[in-house]
Amino acid sequence: MTLQSSSTELTSFEGKVAVVTGGSRGIGKAICDELIKRGAKVVIGAISDKGQEVAKQYNKETGKKVAVFLRTDVSRYDDNKALFQLAENEFGGVDIAILNAATSDGSDNMFSPLDDKLEERIFNVNAVGLIKSSKVAILHMAKRGGGSIVCISSAAGFYSVPALTAYVATKHAIIGYVRSCTFLPEVCNIRVNAVCPAFVDTEFLDSVRTVGGIPEPYYDFADTVPVVPMPFIIDGVFKYLSDNTTNGETVMAYPTGLEVREAPEWHYSLLTENSLKAQDIYLKKAIPHTKQQLSRALERYENEQKKASSIQ
Ligand SMILES: NC(=O)c1ccc[n+]([C@@H]2O[C@H](COP(=O)([O-])OP(=O)(O)OC[C@H]3O[C@@H](n4cnc5c(N)ncnc54)[C@H](O)[C@@H]3O)[C@@H](O)[C@H]2O)c1
Repeated sequence: MTLQSSSTELTSFEGKVAVVTGGSRGIGKAICDELIKRGAKVVIGAISDKGQEVAKQYNKETGKKVAVFLRTDVSRYDDNKALFQLAENEFGGVDIAILNAATSDGSDNMFSPLDDKLEERIFNVNAVGLIKSSKVAILHMAKRGGGSIVCISSAAGFYSVPALTAYVATKHAIIGYVRSCTFLPEVCNIRVNAVCPAFVDTEFLDSVRTVGGIPEPYYDFADTVPVVPMPFIIDGVFKYLSDNTTNGETVMAYPTGLEVREAPEWHYSLLTENSLKAQDIYLKKAIPHTKQQLSRALERYENEQKKASSIQ
């Protein structure tokens, strides 16, 4: 399905509070620019302190406090908790989370040294880090009565790229995670979707052109492929923020525009008469069961936060 680009339609996000991971540059910064333009408050979490300048610039341009920055490593729960708590302290809560932070370090791991830490880092940032950010986001949003999470995966979440083995695996992981957030709208009024761009002209691409100082021949090809204009990615993000009917959806951003990628249906051999009956029963139990899980998670989180603030 091809969707029209709708960047001219400017829905107001006045009063909304957005946490953006990796908002210090590239795609994350472009999303922050648009959120600020539409009246939202932005909380930037990035590993690079450049996010501090970005937040300062927004405050200067608007003449009020609309943005804050916290140095954040999304692979750490403590950093994620501090980031979302900052949004609550500064702006009263969280409505939107753009989970965009990612690293390219260790993207091509097939013949890299057999080193545990080196191997795990890209997974800990791109996949596990995104899951950690989303779990903290869900707790803060559930408390507020709902919200919208947009994950930035990649075309590499669907295609294979021999020169980016580990990176591709992390981006596939995000697709599976997003598609499994099935019950959140009914449980806590939270929606999770993913935008998956093909090549975009950011500093990210520069960082993967050589591996261990040796040029990677894949980019002789990749550099000939048309890039995705940033407005298409912004359209994808704002489509999901604005459309309350979307959840667990993945949209590809191509040089020609947006195309939704449907999840494959379950294979007929898995759905027997018995399993279909059992599925109906499970679906009736799933929402109350998940609501109970959320309520326990909220209680645990609140206790942890109280304990942490009493220690400080
Ligand atoms: N550029 C592309 O061609 C392209 C294509 C498809 C998808 N993407 C995805 O888009 C997103 C943004 O990419 P970009 O091109 O703007 O890259 P970029 O390198 O310009 O920006 C990455 C951002 O993530 C932050 N970051 C890195 N590691 C972090 C960590 N551990 N904790 C917190 N922040 C961290 C950086 O500080 C930076 O702000 C990424 O998820 C990337 O995988 C990029």
